[in-house]
Amino acid sequence: MTLRIGDIAPDFTAETTTGLITFHDWIGDDWAFFFSHPADFTPVCTTEMGRTSQLAEQFAQRGVKPIGLSTDTVKEHVKWIEDVNDTQNTDLRFPIVADADLTIAKQYDMIHPSESETAAVRSVFIIDPDKKIRLTMTYPMSVGRNFDEILRVIDALQTGDTHKIATPADWVPGQDVIIPPSVNDADAKSSFPQGFETIRPYLRTVKL
Ligand code: BEZ
Repeated sequence: MTLRIGDIAPDFTAETTTGLITFHDWIGDDWAFFFSHPADFTPVCTTEMGRTSQLAEQFAQRGVKPIGLSTDTVKEHVKWIEDVNDTQNTDLRFPIVADADLTIAKQYDMIHPSESETAAVRSVFIIDPDKKIRLTMTYPMSVGRNFDEILRVIDALQTGDTHKIATPADWVPGQDVIIPPSVNDADAKSSFPQGFETIRPYLRTVKL
């Protein structure tokens, strides 16, 4: 199934390392960072799980709950988490979904058969409290994800929702943002009384 930005994230009930969850109920009023990895007891995945765990406070500050998935069992996940904690110097507490029969991985198009018929690629879904998919990313098995970028895009999405703005290339919090072309100058003046810069009629920037 191809899932696109704006789609409702498919709901599911699954065993995880923190017990049985129903995905939408588990997300509740928070955001979710739902990410798949190819397999337990593999090196790149170990570093990604460690990094996610180390960033627990950063995710919590943004109201985002991390949740992993691979096509392994809870028993395997639990044993592997000991290694993750040992080698990455962390205390992993977020759930990892056990999807040994590939049901959820297929539902979320995490299986790319030219890579593997049974293991997931590195998919990312950022899901908002309305359960809407706000971002998708797909990385190959051999490349670990950039967690600064994951936090940055969450910041950009949440800032955009709050202020009805867009963000330029490489934006990080604190930098000027963009007034979308759908907002006319009169509305921009009332929304941004601090003033804005018009570089081109379609390119207007503002400090928040
Ligand atoms: C890894 O996590 O290191 C990995 C897993 C599957 C394929 C390649 C690398």
